[in-house]
Amino acid sequence: MRTPFVVGNWKLNKTIAEALVNVTELKNQLGAVKGVDIGVAPPFTAIHSVAKRLEGSSIAVCAQDAFWETSGAWTGALSASMLHDAGATWVIVGHSERRQHFGDTNESVGKKARAVISSGVGAIVCVGETLAERDAGRTLSVIDAQLDGGLAEVPDSNHLVIAYEPVWAIGTGRTATPAQAQEVHAHIRSRVAVRYGADRAAAIRILYGGSVKPSNTAELMAQPDIDGALVGGASLEAADFVAIVKAARPS
Ligand code: PGA
Repeated sequence: MRTPFVVGNWKLNKTIAEALVNVTELKNQLGAVKGVDIGVAPPFTAIHSVAKRLEGSSIAVCAQDAFWETSGAWTGALSASMLHDAGATWVIVGHSERRQHFGDTNESVGKKARAVISSGVGAIVCVGETLAERDAGRTLSVIDAQLDGGLAEVPDSNHLVIAYEPVWAIGTGRTATPAQAQEVHAHIRSRVAVRYGADRAAAIRILYGGSVKPSNTAELMAQPDIDGALVGGASLEAADFVAIVKAARPS
């Protein structure tokens, strides 16, 4: 059985004070929730404060990106071990916004994912097609290329999670149907089996992301290969995120 994993990706939102209000609420409301792993990905500036506030809870702190080098002359960059030092135990890599606006490629995502896993931190590797790619019937080949690049040098690890986030569903209010998501999730699991073997494929968690909200979580989670959610907009309000986590619990 795979424990569901629900992660809130706050993107470029929240001051430290706002972040602390949010996670204090999460700690109070989700402290007793069992059967689901929970993470929040605040902006870098709030990671340390949030991690301190969440001490004693099982809510994990995630970073939204990390560079692949571990030290040196890389102005503006942060390594996975620095993020771990600040309190993060997971790092999201290859989010479509990083690919679209910050130059991440399948190759650089692979270098980041390898560096994150080598630092003993969990990696949430994101993949997903654009609307043009879906309309052209290229969804699965795009996902394959993203997985091949993103996992190229990543050793087999139980610290690896994949997130399927169709670009056309992110922040648009337009969620993939459960059947559309399931098709891609099953495909991803079969690719993981080829790369790491059947046992890893059976154990790896594949999260869905893209306009997840309290009202659509349960139907997505009911799909056999959907093991959790990467939640953007709806994670900014603690009440919505709490409702999503509760809807993701195994029935
Ligand atoms: P959204 O974002 O939930 O706002 O669509 C999801 C994501 O980008 O991870």
